[in-house]
Amino acid sequence: MTGAKILAFGGYQPDKVVTNDDLAKLVDTNDEWIRSRVGIESRRVAADDETVTDMAEAAGAKALAASGLAPSAIDLVIVATCSPLVPMPSVSAIVAHRLGIVAPGAFDLNAACAGFCYAMDTASNAIAAGSARNVLVIGSEKMTSWVDWTDRSTCIIFADGAGAVVVGPTGGDEPTGIGPVVWGSAGDQGNKITVTGRTGSMRQDGQAVFRWATTAMAPVALEACRRAGVTPADITAFVPHQANLRIVEAIARRLGIPRERVADDIVHAGNTSSASIPLALSRMAEQGRLQPGTPALLLGFGAGLSYAAQVVTVP
Ligand code: UT7
Repeated sequence: MTGAKILAFGGYQPDKVVTNDDLAKLVDTNDEWIRSRVGIESRRVAADDETVTDMAEAAGAKALAASGLAPSAIDLVIVATCSPLVPMPSVSAIVAHRLGIVAPGAFDLNAACAGFCYAMDTASNAIAAGSARNVLVIGSEKMTSWVDWTDRSTCIIFADGAGAVVVGPTGGDEPTGIGPVVWGSAGDQGNKITVTGRTGSMRQDGQAVFRWATTAMAPVALEACRRAGVTPADITAFVPHQANLRIVEAIARRLGIPRERVADDIVHAGNTSSASIPLALSRMAEQGRLQPGTPALLLGFGAGLSYAAQVVTVP
């Protein structure tokens, strides 16, 4: 069977920067609390008329350009998102059209903050099964469209942005570059992060999610390493969902992965749900923090509660 690998990355962030001091004018909070409890210094917020589709297009265009592939070489587009403006048409079909990708398979996928890792596995399987040659995988979110700007437990965390990767086939005897996924869900805790009604706002039991993430996710990450035939010591980049820097660092400590190998994009990007992993990957690539040909560990987790992890080879 053909293996799959990441060919290129692309990231997009809206122009508007919102600092912790800006939020302190809206709710009873302060810069010191947010930095120490969440690790965020600033985040990006999309313009009123800027949609998940617009951001997905921008990130997708960058990844496609970086891959060197023509739009005609893409025959599947998957957009992981939980914050599209409307449920139909899909973000993916419109983005594909805007990027000049003619008649690809196209669908959106919602596994909340774990969505990108679910989409990566789907892309890898489509290539292995021969149903796609190259796949454009995008995570795009306008989480601020679900934010209640009077709720200090959510408005200080969530933000907007998009990240994308192009996934293509491995050549010849080359081993697959997308390892087996470890995924699952805990629907009994589905009430821990919710949006109620079509026009409602997001609510979360932050402490419960924090406890779950810092206890249950390291074993998931370890199992993803085991299935890929590597150990945490082999991992040159750990790119977990950028939920909260304390969560990210706690999981990394449990895995024994040194801090310099750990994505910390949340500091200036905030929590962008399914966009956070590809955004962090593209930022690490820009910063020269990725080592081509080596294993990186992706770990998504969030509402559902849902999670997914896999080891990928850095392009
Ligand atoms: O990506 C989707 C998954 N979501 C997550 O991963 C979120 C996970 N949870 C978290 O990141 C954290 O639980 C939060 C950032 C939401 C909250 O941080 P925490 O350290 O768990 O705070 P807490 O809820 O235990 O509250 C501690 C104190 C409370 O005051 P008292 O009762 O000790 O007087 C809160 O009222 O901090 C207070 N507090 C705040 N103070 C200033 C809560 N939010 C704020 C705030 N600014 N924004």
